[in-house]
Amino acid sequence: MQTFVAGSTQVSSEVTSESRQLPPLPASRITSNLRQTSFAGMISECPHMQRAFSIVERVARTDSTVLILGESGTGKELIARAIHRLSCRTGKLVPVNCGAIPEEILESELFGHEKGSFTGAIASKVGRFQLADGGTIFLDEIGEMSPKLQVKLLRVLQERKVEPVGSTKTIDVNVRVIAATNKDLREEVKAGRFREDLYYRLQVVPIDLVPLRARGNDILVLAKHFMSRCCENLARPVLEIGAAVQEKFKAYSWPGNVRELENLIERLAILCDGPSLELRDLPDYLLQGNASCAVVEIGEELPADGVDFNALVDRFETRLITMALNRTSGNKKAAARLLQLNRTTLVEKIKKKSLTQFMEVSSESSSDAAEASPRDYLTAKE
Ligand SMILES: Nc1ncnc2c1ncn2[C@@H]1O[C@H](COP(=O)(O)OP(=O)(O)OP(=O)(O)O)[C@@H](O)[C@H]1O
Ligand SMILES: [Mg+2]
Repeated sequence: MQTFVAGSTQVSSEVTSESRQLPPLPASRITSNLRQTSFAGMISECPHMQRAFSIVERVARTDSTVLILGESGTGKELIARAIHRLSCRTGKLVPVNCGAIPEEILESELFGHEKGSFTGAIASKVGRFQLADGGTIFLDEIGEMSPKLQVKLLRVLQERKVEPVGSTKTIDVNVRVIAATNKDLREEVKAGRFREDLYYRLQVVPIDLVPLRARGNDILVLAKHFMSRCCENLARPVLEIGAAVQEKFKAYSWPGNVRELENLIERLAILCDGPSLELRDLPDYLLQGNASCAVVEIGEELPADGVDFNALVDRFETRLITMALNRTSGNKKAAARLLQLNRTTLVEKIKKKSLTQFMEVSSESSSDAAEASPRDYLTAKE
């Protein structure tokens, strides 16, 4: 196991026995990688990301299963797309968001179904695994998959055969599997929510993406990159990023990672009048240094007899969720956006915390349903 340290964050990039057999990169290639800041559409100068890029290069040439781990907005989907693009696989990349589709629909979307196999199955359907034959299937938010589907997926990974719902025949598939999650799958295994055997099947080659706050100068490199891109799109001169703003950017914790930075820069590029970004242009939470400062009420030091960590964190989460839902009048889609969470993650937390006032079906249900529509997530691309 190789360990890299960035600031106070320890990031481990484990290499399993199978990935150790990957062809080594020539030293000269690794050196040149360290100098490059752009890789398959991703910008980074950070050694941890450079390491992830070199794993991508190596693993792309194999058929090994890859598990991409990282907080929301760290670039997991970009990495999956890069692996497919750099591979020799001629088929499609088929993304599936396992967290956004109800279990019954997900089963038939993944494996297909026979005509008449359930109410509403008026015609046979080809599953996503079959559509990805010769290519790659990207199982996003794998940590949300139900136990029943975890068993079925394990069989597919072991046998490379799928069995459509309501069918007795099996179909051979030649598919490279890439999975991603922002959950700590080891914790999910410990808690009994994720199968251990499936976890090991998936993490043949794990790729850990460090959070933006642990990437050092990347915050500014990316901020400038997004600023140039946005200003170009807006046909306006590129805004400079003032020194004081740069300091605030470096001090902030970026819980939504690169996505949060990208969206903020887009907003600022549209709204800012001057030739450069100054402190007055920044939202309040950034001026306070850290979004969490606005809501945490913890003193400077731990009380002498310690704290109930889980209860405190739970209370903090509940408060953030309640504040966001109150702000959006109970609209979960909008609240999830405010919290930079997936809507499904938010809904799950609301249920787990029994926040009954937000659990009933509201007028937003149609937009919620629209958001969760398989069509949004299952469009075969590339
Ligand atoms: N290194 C990078 N360089 C440039 N843009 C990036 C980089 N990493 C991420 N992005 C951009 O940030 C956004 C989020 O990336 P992506 O969707 O791949 O993250 P994710 O980890 O899959 O997020 P989530 O867990 O929420 O699905 C995208 O718009 C992507 O283009
Ligand atoms: Mg994603």
